[in-house]
Amino acid sequence: MKPVIAIVGATGAVGSEFLLVLKKMGFEFEQLHLIASKRSAGKVLKTVFGDYEVVDIEQFDFSQVKYAFFSAGGNVSREWAPKAAAQGAIVIDNTSAFRMQDTVPLIIPEINRSAYTGQKLISNPNCSTIQLVRALAPIHERFGVRKVIASTYQAVSGAGNEGVNGLHASLVDSEGAGDSSPFSRPIAHNVIPQIDRFMDNGFTFEEEKVRFETRKILNEPDMFVTCTAVRVPVFRGHSVAAYIETDKALDMGAVKAALVGQGIKVAQNPEDFPTPRTIANKEDVYVGRIRREPDARNGLWLWVVADNLWVGAAWNAVRIARELER
Ligand SMILES: NC(=O)c1ccc[n+]([C@@H]2O[C@H](COP(=O)([O-])OP(=O)(O)OC[C@H]3O[C@@H](n4cnc5c(N)ncnc54)[C@H](OP(=O)(O)O)[C@@H]3O)[C@@H](O)[C@H]2O)c1
Repeated sequence: MKPVIAIVGATGAVGSEFLLVLKKMGFEFEQLHLIASKRSAGKVLKTVFGDYEVVDIEQFDFSQVKYAFFSAGGNVSREWAPKAAAQGAIVIDNTSAFRMQDTVPLIIPEINRSAYTGQKLISNPNCSTIQLVRALAPIHERFGVRKVIASTYQAVSGAGNEGVNGLHASLVDSEGAGDSSPFSRPIAHNVIPQIDRFMDNGFTFEEEKVRFETRKILNEPDMFVTCTAVRVPVFRGHSVAAYIETDKALDMGAVKAALVGQGIKVAQNPEDFPTPRTIANKEDVYVGRIRREPDARNGLWLWVVADNLWVGAAWNAVRIARELER
């Protein structure tokens, strides 16, 4: 029997992409429910599956739902995901609310499908973490990664519809950029080395997500992983520059060969590097600028680009459900 599915946060930057992803993946369902807050309840959304009325989460009963995809922020997930799971749904949560809980699997299907052992609540990793780990995992398997130093260049859509509107406003008024902007500085013609809140250690919460989620997904609690996460005036598509050191001697031909396939598109020549402008609505991870670090024994660099709304969110979440349907 085909599953009944619900998208919580359906009017949002990620939620609206779920519909396109379901269509492209050919994920079949019996019924689809689009859920948001009171603000959007009653609105009719025109989707690739036809017109759907948005339902207020407070009025919704999850007991008929098999998969509930949550993308409505951490507070909504903390309150509603356990209730939806108690009513019988399998919750696939895009927020950071439960990711680091020991009992909650943090899944990238291509990498650690086996971490799922029947739980009702599954976390989707952070967007930058997913694309980084998708590229790291094949190298780790072949050469044993021991150190990762990453810098991210993250699109404004990573901050949801407010982020997108914030960049539009800032491009018109680059000094003002409006009180409604979610960024701590004007984002147009700028780069902002702050994503999410600052922690006591001087890192941001986004940077800590990359550190701890990478270790959890790869099941390597002692791996050295560090990050500087930067917001850039790009609407869609995150980029990551990653320096990697391995235990085993590197063979760059074998590195490229390990990356090819598995949903990774590898630029063989330096000048063919990927950029965010060309990867919207694509499910692949794009890797370029693959080069050996001349001053380290087993060091290399990667440039990794992917659609934050697909690879970093909706595509990974629907892939999880598809795995569970097999
Ligand atoms: N954007 C990304 O690249 C990305 C990637 C991975 C994970 N995430 C995570 O996914 C979540 C959503 O992100 P987004 O970028 O899609 O945000 P967004 O564009 O701001 O959308 C938020 C969605 O949540 C709904 N919502 C807000 N408050 C609600 C409430 N009290 N009850 C029910 N629904 C509520 C909104 O509905 P209304 O129309 O009713 O306001 C809207 O549909 C965040 O936790 C984010 O960290 C985002």
